[in-house]
Amino acid sequence: MLSYQHAYHAGNIADVHKHLALMLLLEGFAENSGAFSFYDSHAGRGIYDLSSPEAEKTGEHKMGVSAIDEPQNDKRAPARYLDLIETFRKEHGEHAYPGSPSIAHHFMRPGDKMFLTELHPTEHRVLEENFSAFKSVDIRKQDGFEMLSRLKYPHHLRGVALIDPAYEVKTDYRSVPRSLMKALSGWPNGVFVVWYPILPDERHKQMVRSLFSLGGNAVFESLLMAPDVADRRGMIGTGLMIFNAPQGFEEKLAVAMDEITTLMFGEGLGSHSIKKGQPVGSAALL
Ligand SMILES: C[S@@+](CC[C@H](N)C(=O)[O-])C[C@H]1O[C@@H](n2cnc3c(N)ncnc32)[C@H](O)[C@@H]1O
Repeated sequence: MLSYQHAYHAGNIADVHKHLALMLLLEGFAENSGAFSFYDSHAGRGIYDLSSPEAEKTGEHKMGVSAIDEPQNDKRAPARYLDLIETFRKEHGEHAYPGSPSIAHHFMRPGDKMFLTELHPTEHRVLEENFSAFKSVDIRKQDGFEMLSRLKYPHHLRGVALIDPAYEVKTDYRSVPRSLMKALSGWPNGVFVVWYPILPDERHKQMVRSLFSLGGNAVFESLLMAPDVADRRGMIGTGLMIFNAPQGFEEKLAVAMDEITTLMFGEGLGSHSIKKGQPVGSAALL
């Protein structure tokens, strides 16, 4: 039984991290003339309200998207991310926040296609309400790991898959590398983005080792650490493992993340770092 609901966490530092990376990737795909596909294995509801009782209860967005104070008319990535949210708010209300399907939808052109899977009954119903009007969006109430495992014939050869589980089920840490191994054999040049939380007990470490051994030098890790806080029981940082990124993307993300880390936390607070994979050679840890 799934209990996680992203409405409590929308717009937090993890969303800023993964959505900024997604925006940078999809901007690149949309600039090129060929069509692309976007797969979101754990889609959520797609649209959130930062004034909802759920968002108010945790207040997590206050340290994330709501903490970013960016000057106007700036062309850098944090400003483009805020512009995207501003455009979205004109349509959905002043406190709306775009989930990953909405971010991807922003960049879709005629011919591009989006595939969303979501298992939670309420989240799936709301996702359908939000996107069923669009013919280019395929929504399924299906296990996202199963969808990835069967991703043999992607709709387009170019595209991105976001793997963004809640990790409320401990097996998610094993399901991610297992399903990704199959997805990569079906779509070897697909760009895959895996998100995970950094918790004080570092339970992500084994999964990250498996992902490095799976991707070799075609994968890199992007780590965003929050400033030190007295209460270190919750999420202290957030990670992304990015497979098959386009040339130059790693550098682009590093610059954007350094900028947004300062804007979000303040000068010298928090940190962003990148760790590169090594050529394949070590034994698989799956
Ligand atoms: C972190 S949230 C997704 C947020 C979304 N990707 C975004 O960035 O806006 C994770 C979602 O995965 C859903 N979920 C959990 N297990 C799942 C599974 N096995 N297959 C598909 N969806 C699942 C949860 O109901 C939740 O809505």
